[in-house]
Amino acid sequence: MDWKVSEREETGDVLVLPLWKGKNKPANSALNGLPRSSVINTKSAFKSRFDGKTGSNLSVWGEKCRVVLVGMGESEKSSNKVARDAGAKTLSSLSKKDGTNLTVRFTSGWNLDSMLWFIEGMMLRDYAFVKYRSKDRKEREEQGEWSLDIQASSRYLKELSAGITRIVGRVEGVHLARDLANEPPNYLYPMSYAERATEWAKDKPNVIVEVYDWDDLQDKGMYGLINVGKGSSRKPCMVLFTLNPNANSKERSPCIVGKGITFDTGGISLKPGASMDEMKYDMHGAATVFGLMHALYATGHKGRVRAIACLAENMPSAEAYRPGDVIPTYSGKTIEVLNTDAEGRNVLADGLWKSGEFDPSYIIDLATLTGAVVVSLGHEASGLWSNNSELLEKVHQAGNKEDEIAWKMPLLPAFEKEMTGSKIADVRNLRKSRWGGANTAAAFLKQFVPNRNFDEEGEQIPWAHLDIAGTAWGATTNAMVGHGATGIHVRTLHTLITNSD
Ligand code: BES
Ligand code: MN
Ligand code: ZN
Repeated sequence: MDWKVSEREETGDVLVLPLWKGKNKPANSALNGLPRSSVINTKSAFKSRFDGKTGSNLSVWGEKCRVVLVGMGESEKSSNKVARDAGAKTLSSLSKKDGTNLTVRFTSGWNLDSMLWFIEGMMLRDYAFVKYRSKDRKEREEQGEWSLDIQASSRYLKELSAGITRIVGRVEGVHLARDLANEPPNYLYPMSYAERATEWAKDKPNVIVEVYDWDDLQDKGMYGLINVGKGSSRKPCMVLFTLNPNANSKERSPCIVGKGITFDTGGISLKPGASMDEMKYDMHGAATVFGLMHALYATGHKGRVRAIACLAENMPSAEAYRPGDVIPTYSGKTIEVLNTDAEGRNVLADGLWKSGEFDPSYIIDLATLTGAVVVSLGHEASGLWSNNSELLEKVHQAGNKEDEIAWKMPLLPAFEKEMTGSKIADVRNLRKSRWGGANTAAAFLKQFVPNRNFDEEGEQIPWAHLDIAGTAWGATTNAMVGHGATGIHVRTLHTLITNSD
């Protein structure tokens, strides 16, 4: 999407006028640049039909320009969600057949934040995965991108322009995450993710991408990844990102870890057939990691940030790991495998332990980890667990700011006990009872969060876990997304990281 900001003078093919309830008798500047007939028609629409209620949109057709009135509801009830959702819904209601030159004109009742939210909603929603749909792809190529003219009072233009530049970088990150998670598993497998990451880093002097391939994993003893991935002909790998490696070398920096199962069949503990195709998005944690690194890069973040993607394909085969196996991990702890479908935690065990080597300020992992979190929270919120109340609160607040809700969940000692109660290994990968499966999964992960400097007596590094199984896909109430992968938490973590230093 191309964009510029300007004063309220000219209009493009379509003029979008988002108006707050009660403020729908627009200032004259709202209709600047329209032909006389359009001015008359729009004014009559104001008088007769348009009341500014949320969702009460009205189109006024004219010869030169179509005017779209968008009801915003009461400005006192405005929030980031109201403004973003309205922007997203407006964009999805437009057709490029009416012309791609879009003018969005903000008038009374709008402040800088709400204007930015509205535009962010529009930009987030401007996405479709049409790569493999020949007709749609062609149509999109022919119609070209939207070009957006954002208009407001002159006193806002400078800040608006800076704010939108930042939004564009974040939206690129979100769309990249969606692209990765939407990509079919025959195209996106562990080493192809690694290649994309390497390619992305190539022309960026302040970015390092390192790949541990099959041989490296063996050398290092990362048997969590190896065991989950060895049943597939597409071998597992670990991808390590560093942004700004030379920044403030004395200060600690965050490390973000993502589950990257490029396809989850369940392995020998095979999943049932229904919706198995969707298990291509079982790498959305790793997709968010990549998207986040891009967003941070594109918005010029100066601090150091590390990220680790744990990539494997979980397949049944003669080479596959099996229920009953006991596997070593990078941490030295052993895992009793009771179900090969509880594979995400096995690969994250290696990623979490690895992150301790960077002495990070905190660790956050993202994973489409359990069906149980979808039972608990539906598609409306990710589950959030943490061993540190301050970090817990910070992630929660960042999620609220972005309307990517991260709901606080409990890390109770009883859950940990359940997962460490194996008769034959240090940790078991399956809970004992059916209940609270998202909590026991989090309690499992906690066993692989290292103490500071790996000191046995020391304190555990602050860590938070986001279970995104419900929010990464199929969230029909998420107005930012038409279909498929959501790109969840790229914005949450971007806000968390960029606001704290
Ligand atoms: N990738 C799945 C979790 C999942 C389920 C993600 C639905 C998205 C939608 C995970 O690897 C898995 O299979 N979890 C099992 C764990 C169980 C075997 C302990 C589950 O949730 O059933
Ligand atoms: Mn699984
Ligand atoms: Zn999985």
